[in-house]
Amino acid sequence: MCALDVRPAVATERLLLRGPTAADVAPIAELANDLGVAGMTSRLPYPYGQDDAEAFVGSVARMNPRTEAVFAVEHRQFGVVGVLGFHERAPGRSELGYWFGRPFWGRGYATEAVTGALRWAKGDWRRNVVWAGHFADNRASSQVLCKAGFLYTGDVEPRPCAGRNGQAVPTRMMVWLA
Ligand SMILES: CC(C)(COP(=O)(O)OP(=O)(O)OC[C@H]1O[C@@H](n2cnc3c(N)ncnc32)[C@H](O)[C@@H]1OP(=O)(O)O)[C@@H](O)C(=O)NCCC(=O)NCCS
Repeated sequence: MCALDVRPAVATERLLLRGPTAADVAPIAELANDLGVAGMTSRLPYPYGQDDAEAFVGSVARMNPRTEAVFAVEHRQFGVVGVLGFHERAPGRSELGYWFGRPFWGRGYATEAVTGALRWAKGDWRRNVVWAGHFADNRASSQVLCKAGFLYTGDVEPRPCAGRNGQAVPTRMMVWLA
């Protein structure tokens, strides 16, 4: 049984957060291949192809479910609209990251998914602190994190952005307390 088989799905009003599967490779590859998406995340390369999506889905299956949790975000009508995950940045330090496909921006999906994921992290995953950071030029993500209850720590860290050729981008750090 792979790690994700034991991870429950998280349902919100319009969305289902669940482990990514091979069927998600095509929509993830299509939606992530957008510089407006990759350029706002640390990890996504650009261009982003089918191979990248396959490697991503495979890597999630190998993750340690005690320290990392990655979900495909599925809309009940439109299918996969984005990806959200908690990664262990340092021992005991979970950091939240996410991206949504451009056709699905501006409908409240990110706020809804992040809020649902935090509810799961607090309840099922027993986390009482979650960290996140957004590039200083990413106002949309600032809004999402503020609306979900994150507060600014005051720290600004240079973080490399794969989609910007590895360039270090000032990243405003935030924290959420359960
Ligand atoms: C950032 C991102 C996740 C937002 O997703 P979304 O589903 O459009 O977000 P929501 O619809 O939940 O919007 C949340 C708030 O941000 C606001 N917002 C959205 N785009 C905005 C923008 N470009 N500038 C300022 N505010 C913006 C919305 O108005 C909303 O606030 P409101 O409800 O008070 O009106 C999405 O744009 C994305 O995936 N971008 C690329 C990858 C990325 O930035 N990932 C996060 C890395 S930290």
